[in-house]
Amino acid sequence: MKLLVCGGAGFIGSAFVRVRLDGGDEVVVLDKLTYAGRRENLQDLDVEFVHGAIEDPDAVAKAIAGCDAVVNFAAETHVDRSIAEPDAFVKTHALGTYVLLEAIRAAGVRYVQVSTDEVYGSIEEGSFTEASPLAPSSPYSATKAGADLLVAGYVHTYGMEACICRGSNNYGPRQYPEKLIPLMILNALHGDPLPVYGDGMNVRNWIYVDDFARGIGTVLERGVPGEAYNVGGPDEAPNIEVVKKILELTGADDSLIEYVTDRPGHDRRYSLASEKVRGLGWEAQVRFAEGIGRTVDWYRDNAWWWEPIRSGDYRAYYERHYGRALG
Ligand code: NAD
Ligand code: DAU
Repeated sequence: MKLLVCGGAGFIGSAFVRVRLDGGDEVVVLDKLTYAGRRENLQDLDVEFVHGAIEDPDAVAKAIAGCDAVVNFAAETHVDRSIAEPDAFVKTHALGTYVLLEAIRAAGVRYVQVSTDEVYGSIEEGSFTEASPLAPSSPYSATKAGADLLVAGYVHTYGMEACICRGSNNYGPRQYPEKLIPLMILNALHGDPLPVYGDGMNVRNWIYVDDFARGIGTVLERGVPGEAYNVGGPDEAPNIEVVKKILELTGADDSLIEYVTDRPGHDRRYSLASEKVRGLGWEAQVRFAEGIGRTVDWYRDNAWWWEPIRSGDYRAYYERHYGRALG
């Protein structure tokens, strides 16, 4: 297949590109290169790169020409940023998805919308299935849910061959350090405080990025058009346990933990039931105990990747958001 991967210069998109190139596909990447998108993530990969936004019809038309299918990762992805400045979230998720859907309808190609467990909201016990109602609770998840509904509306109205793939919390190499796991790893390696929101007992369902990338590939190849598929990780843990594991693996001291003001509207727990995608033949391969070790090793060994981030705009973001400078 010749695949158009929107948002392919980001964390999960670039992992997906690797998986698909290994499997023999040709890949075109369309990416706006926001603060989170980086050409370095595609270094040494044989892809055609189009620099542009999914909400720009001309850029989309250029990128989609000759492609057999489109997978859309392009998004603003940090919940805290969506609370502080929602504008780009509305633009990319609502307008961007609409522009893409119009181009896909005209081209008549297959489509996968990459979505998130956050569209279901928080669950104290048990797990969300694909039949659970959407109940998003942040500007990030509300705009992602809006994009899902737009896809569903296009499938219903125009009979498009589109699926939605909802993932749980990803971790692994090349994740921008604003997110919990890379933030804690880099702060621990630098002796900076580890800012834990609230009581540290919010629970996330962790999936190693390559497992999610393969799950999306499974949905692309074998998903039933019009269906949504949950792709959840094999392990869940309260944030404080994840942070303590990172301290253990980096050899840093527990005294670095600092409880800070909670995120407004902070979802308590996410959990996905993934039986439906298992029915298509997908299975997670990496347990958290193994994946977190690999991830810590990757950040330890790849300072070239994160040094320009930690010494760039991220410092100002960190200071604004946490009210303290990085060491
Ligand atoms: P990321 O922030 O690392 O990457 C997002 C990419 O999209 C970047 O390369 C960025 O430049 C690009 N982009 C942003 N706006 C764009 C636009 N308007 N046009 C074109 N490109 C644009 O994000 P990620 O963590 O890799 O997430 C990828 C997708 O997976 C997102 O849709 C996200 O909602 C979803 N998701 C993420 C997780 C997670 O834990 N990170 C879990 C489930 C689902
Ligand atoms: O669940 C899937 C979602 O996972 C994706 O859709 C999002 O794109 C992705 O960013 C992620 O959202 P979260 O809000 O769950 O991830 P984050 O890494 O921001 O936070 C994970 C947990 O850690 C959450 O309970 C908040 C907490 N946290 C986070 C940060 C950044 C802290 O305690 N301290 C922090 O400094």
